[in-house]
Amino acid sequence: MDDLRAKFFTLISQASDEQSLEDLRVQAVGKKGEISLQMRELGKMTAEERQVAGPKLNALKDEINAALAAKKAALSDAALDERLRTEWLDVTLPARERRQGTVHPISQVTEEVTAIFADMGFAVAEGPQIESDWYNFDALNIPAEHPTRTEMDTFYMHREAGDNRPPHVLRTHTSPVQIRSMEKHGAPIRIIAPGRVYRADYDQTHTPMFHQLEGLAIDRDLSMANLKWCLEEFCRAFFEVEQVELRFRASHFPFTEPSAEVDLRCSWDGGRLKVGEGDDWMEILGSGMVHPKVLSAGGIDPEEWQGFAFGMGIDRLAMLKYGMPDLRAFFDSDLRWLKHYGFAALDCRHCRAD
Ligand code: DAH
Repeated sequence: MDDLRAKFFTLISQASDEQSLEDLRVQAVGKKGEISLQMRELGKMTAEERQVAGPKLNALKDEINAALAAKKAALSDAALDERLRTEWLDVTLPARERRQGTVHPISQVTEEVTAIFADMGFAVAEGPQIESDWYNFDALNIPAEHPTRTEMDTFYMHREAGDNRPPHVLRTHTSPVQIRSMEKHGAPIRIIAPGRVYRADYDQTHTPMFHQLEGLAIDRDLSMANLKWCLEEFCRAFFEVEQVELRFRASHFPFTEPSAEVDLRCSWDGGRLKVGEGDDWMEILGSGMVHPKVLSAGGIDPEEWQGFAFGMGIDRLAMLKYGMPDLRAFFDSDLRWLKHYGFAALDCRHCRAD
């Protein structure tokens, strides 16, 4: 027994990790371990011998178990010390510069505008940016030879020579979403459609890709009066002024009859826009009563239903509201510009509780 004790105490003290400690435990006090084998020998002894050897063996077993536990604790302390030694952190280092993204003004204004119209019961609709010329033009009462097709500086998708299928275009406006929504949902309907549109044009106020917001409301008895109320409500909320004055100027769009361009009373005070006062008028959108042919193209009976539509430039609204002079900067991805004009992630003033 003394030999066994000496042997295992030496081995335990030399163990360098938990696995070899576990192997030792099995070797000593496991079912077939050396101590257990000795225990079995007890059966062959006389009663007197057993009375002496039994308790001694049990005591040895306890001693070895205790030595194993002590060594295990020591090993894990050492492992922790080692980790603490390598995983250190110099808390006196200066903090890193904060790098936080901002919400692009176009995303911000799209959110604001969407929230305002959502309050008035408009749902958000979408359509593809690569559009058939039927949705982009024909269905909107813009036939093949209509001057609007060239006025809009349309981008046509490439077709192989000899491919005579009708062309696809990058949509020049969000108005084709009117047709798609009518086809999908029928009447009555109340939707807005924000999204990207494309035209071959580039200067301080035009970029080849820009953003529009389309609106469409169809019911049995909607009139220009409803259109006017809607747009006034919208301007009040968007420009955050109680007093707004709109001017409806007779105009022409193929997809509306009658058509009106809408101007907003404003003044320019040291280059800064003031809405609702002053002697200037600023054009903000096109609108009108949906043309019967457009209703028919969308599968809606113009004898039964009528409604209004409007379209506005989201980028232009952003420029006006937040005083950004050059549209091209919107798409330069210049971090200094984004930092200056961008918005904090949750800064949406128009998300009202209702
Ligand atoms: N689609 C027109 C454009 O891009 C804007 C527009 C005008 C949309 C009148 C409408 C509308 O829905 O009724 O210039």
